[in-house]
Amino acid sequence: MSLPFNVANHLDTVLRAVATKLGLADRGFQPEVRVADPANGDYQANGALAFAKREKLNPRALGQQIVDQLGGLQEHFDISLAGPGFINFRLRPATLLAWLQTYDSEEHLQAGAASARRGQTWIVDYSAPNTAKQMHVGHLRSAVIGEAICRLLAFSGAKVIRDNHIGDWGTQFGKLIWACKRHLDATALAGDPLEEFERLYKLGTKAAEADPAVLAEAQHELVKLQTGDAENLAIWKKINDVSLAAFQVIYGQLGIRFDVSLGESFYNDKVARIYRELTECGLAQESQGALVVFHPEHPRFKTQPFIIRKKDGAANYASSDLATVLYRAEHFKVDGAAYVIDFRQSDHMDQLFLTTRKWFEKTGRKLPQLEHVDFGTVLGGDGKPLKTRNGENIRLKDLLAEARERAFALVSGKNPDFPEAERRAIADVVGVASVQYADLSQNRSSDYVFAWDKMISLEGNTAAYLLYAVARIRSIFRKAGLDTGQPPVAGATAPESPQELALARKLGKFSDAVQLATGTLRPHFLGLHLYELAGAFSTFYAADKVIVDDPAVRARRLLLCHRTLVELEAGLHLLGLRTDLERM
Ligand code: ARG
Repeated sequence: MSLPFNVANHLDTVLRAVATKLGLADRGFQPEVRVADPANGDYQANGALAFAKREKLNPRALGQQIVDQLGGLQEHFDISLAGPGFINFRLRPATLLAWLQTYDSEEHLQAGAASARRGQTWIVDYSAPNTAKQMHVGHLRSAVIGEAICRLLAFSGAKVIRDNHIGDWGTQFGKLIWACKRHLDATALAGDPLEEFERLYKLGTKAAEADPAVLAEAQHELVKLQTGDAENLAIWKKINDVSLAAFQVIYGQLGIRFDVSLGESFYNDKVARIYRELTECGLAQESQGALVVFHPEHPRFKTQPFIIRKKDGAANYASSDLATVLYRAEHFKVDGAAYVIDFRQSDHMDQLFLTTRKWFEKTGRKLPQLEHVDFGTVLGGDGKPLKTRNGENIRLKDLLAEARERAFALVSGKNPDFPEAERRAIADVVGVASVQYADLSQNRSSDYVFAWDKMISLEGNTAAYLLYAVARIRSIFRKAGLDTGQPPVAGATAPESPQELALARKLGKFSDAVQLATGTLRPHFLGLHLYELAGAFSTFYAADKVIVDDPAVRARRLLLCHRTLVELEAGLHLLGLRTDLERM
């Protein structure tokens, strides 16, 4: 029998069956299978200890009782009992070889990776900038993390709908239209339209702040827009088209393609139903002219309600988000929705989810799984949110351009003899990947400091370090006149040297890393695996010559090189990075 893709899951299944047989299962025995410290083996099952304590049994004896039932696993594992009843499993070299032979491509890895989410439909709400403004560094995280989440979910067998929930219907349009009508510079508009709209927006905001008459005029423009005035609608549409075209350039560089872009305006005509339903089912009530939902069981939301319609009767962020949940449930029939949004919107998300849960229950709807995939702030060296020297937001397009320039300097320093066009092409990959990976290699819930020197570097847990490993493996094949598409690995024997074994073991943990990253919606777990894998590869490559005369040794070392390449690329693609470079 060959071993399934995820060995830990397999062990869990076997141990549960044993527990049933021994009469432990109905007393609540949990196997608690974990990836082990490599010194102890590959996996470890810790469940005997907690169970024995609770049931007042001797843990070591219980452990032995379980081990005695694991004869069927001996073919694949060295099994040993340690300390007070920990069961250690060390994969046998022949099993490692069989695993590596099976998972020989990105497709086969994916076929193995299918999870409980297989067949589910998930919508991922990410990026979602507001129109009429350039995307700035604050928009980086949602886009980059969101894309990785989409790819992880799709890899595990879910059907993924990528939705850019753009902010295209805010109160900003009053001031903007006011300014467009009076101060539009046609030449500037033809040159860089988004720049011009941004200038007009700032101008309109300032003017409205300084003069109440302007503020009143701007509010009137907004009402006209909302009530369907043709001229204002045309200006609004133009602003959105221009904004989307500019966003598209960034998405192209980040490898992002949305399936739908249903922004706030799409839900305009869908909010009246929300007011009606929530009122009818007794959740919403009038309060000081607004329509609100209180959550009496919640420490804060019992007094600080979710405002779903403003005093002036206008819809707001909450109304459109409620209409959005309903649309996703009814139209897309989603099983889950992941909202990749800044942690500062946590209160909004909590209230949205609480309200939706109660509302769906009262109306007998199936509630999709709702996940706020939150993230922290990108900080500058001073520990404050990253800004330019003049205190402005850094535009994403400038940031990505600088990343490519810095990567070009790095590549040129290392390989001054490569033709310039090639160095540029490499820098395009490395520059953008470095920015993406700096973000993804951190636990998303934390803030992180944006530091060019650290992120565009060949040392440390960086994209350049991982891509360098990719390029190096390609070079090994190229220099030996071999094709990575058809690696000559027939006749490979099981890994033998300590470095071969360490690398093979690391390769087998890909499934655990993907499962953890997908289960928690935290891509950094996969990043960490790739980093450790590249490290294990380096150690192996420094110790063991690959292109040797002995055909069996050569085949098995080429197999290890090839599978490292496959996993590094599969993993980097899952994170949304490009890996198309031959050398570096
Ligand atoms: N446009 C919003 C902002 O810039 C983000 C929207 C996120 N998605 C959502 N369904 N609320 O803050």
